[in-house]
Amino acid sequence: MEDNQDKPHAIMVPCPFQGHIIPFIHLAIKLASKGYIITFINTEKIHHQITKSSPYHDPKTTQDDIFTEARKSGLEIHYATISDGFPLGFDRSLNDDQFLHGLAHVFSAHVDDLFGKIVNKDSRISCLIADTFFGWPSMIAKKYNLVNVSFWTQPALVFTLYYHMDLLKINGHYDCHDNREDAIDYIPGVEGIEPKDLPSYLQAPNTTTIERRIVHKSVFEDVKKADFVICNAVEELEPKTISALQEKQPFYPIGPIFALNGFTMNTVATSLWSESDCTDWLQAKPHGSVLYVSFGSLACCSREEVAEIAHGLLLSEVSFIWVLRPDIMGSYDNDIFPVGFKDEIKDRGLVVPWSCQISVISHPTVGGFLTHCGWNSVLESIWFNVPMLCYPVFTDQITNRKLVVDDWKIGLNLCDRKPIRRDEIAEKINRLMSGKSTNDLRKNMEQIKEKVEHAISSVGSSEKNFNQFIGDLKVRIF
Ligand code: UDX
Repeated sequence: MEDNQDKPHAIMVPCPFQGHIIPFIHLAIKLASKGYIITFINTEKIHHQITKSSPYHDPKTTQDDIFTEARKSGLEIHYATISDGFPLGFDRSLNDDQFLHGLAHVFSAHVDDLFGKIVNKDSRISCLIADTFFGWPSMIAKKYNLVNVSFWTQPALVFTLYYHMDLLKINGHYDCHDNREDAIDYIPGVEGIEPKDLPSYLQAPNTTTIERRIVHKSVFEDVKKADFVICNAVEELEPKTISALQEKQPFYPIGPIFALNGFTMNTVATSLWSESDCTDWLQAKPHGSVLYVSFGSLACCSREEVAEIAHGLLLSEVSFIWVLRPDIMGSYDNDIFPVGFKDEIKDRGLVVPWSCQISVISHPTVGGFLTHCGWNSVLESIWFNVPMLCYPVFTDQITNRKLVVDDWKIGLNLCDRKPIRRDEIAEKINRLMSGKSTNDLRKNMEQIKEKVEHAISSVGSSEKNFNQFIGDLKVRIF
């Protein structure tokens, strides 16, 4: 048997957001199942939220740990928590700027402190796997003599657009929203993308100074110093973009990481909020008849948008589950629904603050997904063959929409121009759920799903890339 001394030991640090923590946990499980020792670091706030909402949490245990159950099946995953610089009660979602500023400047000092303690105690720690969205990994990796692995949780297209920000600046496409319509055709591996499809952080509107400073100044300079970049993308879905990136840096598309894991991790809690059980409600509906509506964990909508969507759902006459986070409008508001909405929907709709999305969209009665196009949601939708109605709000979601609707043709735009209107929403919902175009979407979806399924098979690209990555990493470590 392999001695612990010979096992590589990696420290993993995800960005403290739901959409980043989920793929990081899947990656930790996958690496541990390949013989890695993992030390997984969550912020105290994230730890508190996960354990509070987890069905696996035992309030009697003092040393609660999200990987306790995984360890019982033989995986060696240690767990540590760290302050993000803010008290537990501080509302991070409603104080974006302050929080992001803290993450960029205070958090790295706490990481440094913790690494000092952990790495000095255990000299076998050889590798750092940090979220690409941090600006400090190269500094920490150098200081503690660790191999520096960057994990990018979004598609390769988004990565390469940030990566080539300098080209966008030279060509006048940076910050040019509304001023330029000509396609961007000079990014290696990208055939052409319109300025309106750039991630919001590369466009002027909706982007705060702090987001821009973090993404632009530090993050994409720092990732260029990483020894390896792994990405939750699929080679067959973005072949040209990925092969162009591989000419720049060792870049390994290994997605979708949840599927690569074979969903073996249903005993590890990943959710930051308690999940409402929708199974009984779904069970009573006909096959493929339910529209699932969710805007992920961060995106906010205006009161007008929420009202138009509510009216659009009513007009469509389709059954739906709507995940409406209490902070969806950027503040906590009890008065979220238009007058009369709840009385009118009766049993046709179920509105919940948070769901177990995987259980909902894998249910045979779900036939469509109205989504903000968060990357995890897109991958999950593909995996469960559910065509999408796209309403991107910010960050990578804008670019993810282009992949889903324009390139892969597995989704429709919710609206062709803003502001959204209830009659157009109702018409698009009906088109997605039962119109003539739904057959084409479903056929395309089957082909895309087939590619993804093949990618994660034992001879597929994601599995091969993953094995290649751990082989190359071992060579660097030993
Ligand atoms: C955002 C970005 O848009 C995304 O692309 C990026 O990679 C991370 O930050 P988020 O808003 O969290 O992500 O959306 P998404 O990437 O879709 O991730 C949300 C995750 O939460 C999904 O895995 C989804 O299954 C889960 N979820 C969502 C639930 O379990 N229940 C819900 O009610 C809603």
